[in-house]
Amino acid sequence: MINDIERVLISEETLNHKVAELAKQISADYEGRDLLFITVLKGSFVFASDLFRRITIPAKVDFISVSSYGSSTKTSGVVKIIKDLDKPIEGLDVIIVEDILDSGVTLNYLSQILKQRGPRSLKICTILNKPDRRIAPITADYVGFDIPDEFVVGYGLDYDEKYRNLPFVGVLKRSVYE
Ligand code: IMP
Ligand code: MG
Repeated sequence: MINDIERVLISEETLNHKVAELAKQISADYEGRDLLFITVLKGSFVFASDLFRRITIPAKVDFISVSSYGSSTKTSGVVKIIKDLDKPIEGLDVIIVEDILDSGVTLNYLSQILKQRGPRSLKICTILNKPDRRIAPITADYVGFDIPDEFVVGYGLDYDEKYRNLPFVGVLKRSVYE
């Protein structure tokens, strides 16, 4: 597994520090509110669980699964809900937790659907952001790291369902997918 990694982009320690920082910020911003984290499966479950454990105010969590990629590294433009939330979000202060904001197609679509369900507020928190790749009109409210346009894996992110369990974010060797 490790032999398929060209280089480590963000170490485990650097991730830990950033997640703690984000959790502190969110805990302060949402004091006294009715906070719900929506975890976008599968990629963001690792980040979401690290973040969630560091939140110091009352918070709930729910899960949604959407598909935008097959096993390729480029967006298909097609987004569909594979598993919906368990409960309504009306009146709640919602934060969507994502692993990576890339073209933005997935999150743009998802946030439009969720807005129609009448949350009190809706924000986006992503651990990784690829600003150069954006095609949809969307920005994240909480961003861990801006990264260059390279295909990365680890910390929940996969290529063909592999590498999610790497504790760091690494650049995948092109030879693995080309
Ligand atoms: P978007 O719709 O293009 O923003 O894509 C969002 C989704 O694509 C993410 O939730 C990831 O599942 C996947 N994705 C985008 N870039 C990468 C990457 O560099 N590595 C692994 N998955 C990625
Ligand atoms: Mg994803």
